[in-house]
Amino acid sequence: MASESGTISADRLSAIRADFPTLSATVHGEPLVYLDNAATSQKPLAVIKRIEDYYRNENANVHRGVHSLSQIATDAYEGAREKIAEFIGATSSREVIFTKGTTESVNLIAATMGFGQIKEGDEIVVTEMEHHSNIVPWQLLCERTGARLRVAPITEEGELDYNEFQILLNERTRLVAVVHVSNSLGTINPVRRIISDAHGMGVPVLLDGAQAVPHMKVDVSALDVDFYCLSSHKLFGPTGFGILYGKEALLEALPPWQGGGDMIEEVDFSGTTFNELPHRFEAGTPHIAGAIGFAAALEYVESIGYDWIHDQENDLLHYATSVLSGIDGLRIIGTAPKKASVISFLLGNAHPYDVGTVLDRMGIAVRTGHHCTQPLMKRLGVPGTVRASFAFYNSRSEIDQLAAGLERAAGMLG
Ligand code: ALA
Repeated sequence: MASESGTISADRLSAIRADFPTLSATVHGEPLVYLDNAATSQKPLAVIKRIEDYYRNENANVHRGVHSLSQIATDAYEGAREKIAEFIGATSSREVIFTKGTTESVNLIAATMGFGQIKEGDEIVVTEMEHHSNIVPWQLLCERTGARLRVAPITEEGELDYNEFQILLNERTRLVAVVHVSNSLGTINPVRRIISDAHGMGVPVLLDGAQAVPHMKVDVSALDVDFYCLSSHKLFGPTGFGILYGKEALLEALPPWQGGGDMIEEVDFSGTTFNELPHRFEAGTPHIAGAIGFAAALEYVESIGYDWIHDQENDLLHYATSVLSGIDGLRIIGTAPKKASVISFLLGNAHPYDVGTVLDRMGIAVRTGHHCTQPLMKRLGVPGTVRASFAFYNSRSEIDQLAAGLERAAGMLG
């Protein structure tokens, strides 16, 4: 049994764990060991209380009422936009579009680029390690326009094959759309280099940052990325809310997407004019509590600090890699040198689903299956994996419990 952590203070860790009520839950009579953070993170009390406070004391629609409560809600909602813009390093909150999450953010760009910016013969470059949400919207766009999806291969270790990626960039490339951190393998892609090389060819870059922002500080201006997509619920905020960051000039060049309230300036049966950024892309009553709750989550993350998050998760990743590697028949899938705290693996010939079921009976939550990356699983020649994904509130002793659970699963399923 390991000490609570390597370099991390046990007191600080238990104080942090106390901020997350779900971490005290029991499952099948066992204390929950929550290792499914890449699917969704747990929520701190600061977020839960802020959402409750909004619904108890400030609930009103935004941008629509002269009455005081609507103005309070609007201030909180637009204040959240300012907070989010500052957190990701956007130069203006006009560049922060509220969406349902990463999937909708990618779809927004794919749909709007399809109205004139992408044409037959154009190419969009993705990689073999993309989530379905960074594949299917581009496939739909290609079907609609006659453009072509080009797929950069990965190595056996689960790294982008950079030479092949560079070869794919050419005068027909209109966009590079790449995952920042792979949800299935944990691979951290060399996004600075990707952006610099794509820009060298005059090609904009969209990053799927859903799995990056829980682990590392992302500054969109420093990266010089053109579009950045992320989800609140993976970053300790509520579900159903996320961000599309876009450089202002690029967003201005895109036509409106969904039509409805709030995205308009003037509606007449003879024609409609549209609102300015960011509202032009935000039709209908938005997820007000989502925005406000997400801003509270970002404040919480700042109170912990990404340095601490990095040190803790790095410790967990290396400890888990070493402990799991010692289990007979366990094979780690995805061994890139630069990884976030995500470990996919197979246990002998056991089906991932069976392994996950045995672990669940012991209170250990992992994800099993293809993780919405079927092309990646096909590339690696596996039906799916078991995936343990760690957040900063996890502990070394939870990894010991995972290892004990896997030893037991190996005995039962082997
Ligand atoms: N995309 C999320 C995951 O990787 C749901 O589990």
